[in-house]
Amino acid sequence: MEVADRVVVVTGGARGIGRALARELAARGAETVVVADIDADGALAVAQEIGGVAITCDVSREEQIAELVKQVMTTKGRIDIFCSNAGIAVGGGPDASTSEWQRIWEVNLMSHVFVARHVLPGMLNRKEGYLLGTVSAAGLLNHVLAAPYGVTKAAALSLFEWLAIAHGDDGIRVSCLCPQGVKTDMLAAEKRLGLEFLTAGALEPEQVADIVVEGIRNERFLILPHPEVAQYFNRKAQDYDRWLKGMRRLRANIIAGIG
Ligand SMILES: NC(=O)c1ccc[n+]([C@@H]2O[C@H](COP(=O)([O-])OP(=O)(O)OC[C@H]3O[C@@H](n4cnc5c(N)ncnc54)[C@H](O)[C@@H]3O)[C@@H](O)[C@H]2O)c1
Repeated sequence: MEVADRVVVVTGGARGIGRALARELAARGAETVVVADIDADGALAVAQEIGGVAITCDVSREEQIAELVKQVMTTKGRIDIFCSNAGIAVGGGPDASTSEWQRIWEVNLMSHVFVARHVLPGMLNRKEGYLLGTVSAAGLLNHVLAAPYGVTKAAALSLFEWLAIAHGDDGIRVSCLCPQGVKTDMLAAEKRLGLEFLTAGALEPEQVADIVVEGIRNERFLILPHPEVAQYFNRKAQDYDRWLKGMRRLRANIIAGIG
């Protein structure tokens, strides 16, 4: 799908990948870019910069997603491309608190369910629409130090796969953006914890945004700004046990590096 003249929504648009994406979509001639974020001031600043529209929205709350979709449908009449990008990171394993598991589940998975629930009817009516989910390489390959992140990203990937299977023949296009490190506040927070393993090959958000727009044009399900992720995913599928062994080694090396 070409992005020019499209009505686009980007969640998590106030910062990081979402902000770069909102800027890139506007630069490529989108008719309207709606910058949605829980950070009202941040969303407004980006919207003002690109001539878009800011809407405050906590994506983990269904009623706020419903309201966001309603507002755009009322004012613009359609949503062509919905970039469900907002996400958070939580580290640890089963030891992370239940409230942290619940929060990341709601932000990293249920938000996409709510988006699909409220955006799809309009798209299905028009037999056209694009859902882009910002997942992560962690959705394909897990995260050696962050089970809540890896698990919720795998669930998100599975949801988008399902949507592509169920609605691909109804004119709905679906893509999952699965990068490794991207130089945003989220990565900076990992770095502060001593987790530098994703920083080396990290991309600028602007590079990722450019690749996303190309991915949307090409209508590819997997958008992989780090092409080596396809290779790792392939190795996982070929020999799961060998892949797990490698991941155990990676985890041990990182922990030794922190200590
Ligand atoms: N940075 C990376 O290395 C990396 C790698 C792979 C995937 N991702 C994914 O990319 C997406 C964007 O991350 P980023 O790196 O740009 O992070 P970021 O922290 O820089 O930006 C995230 C944005 O989402 C907003 N947000 C957070 N919770 C929200 C909520 N409940 N409702 C609405 N908005 C909310 C924040 O206010 C912020 O503007 C996330 O889904 C993340 O998991 C990031």
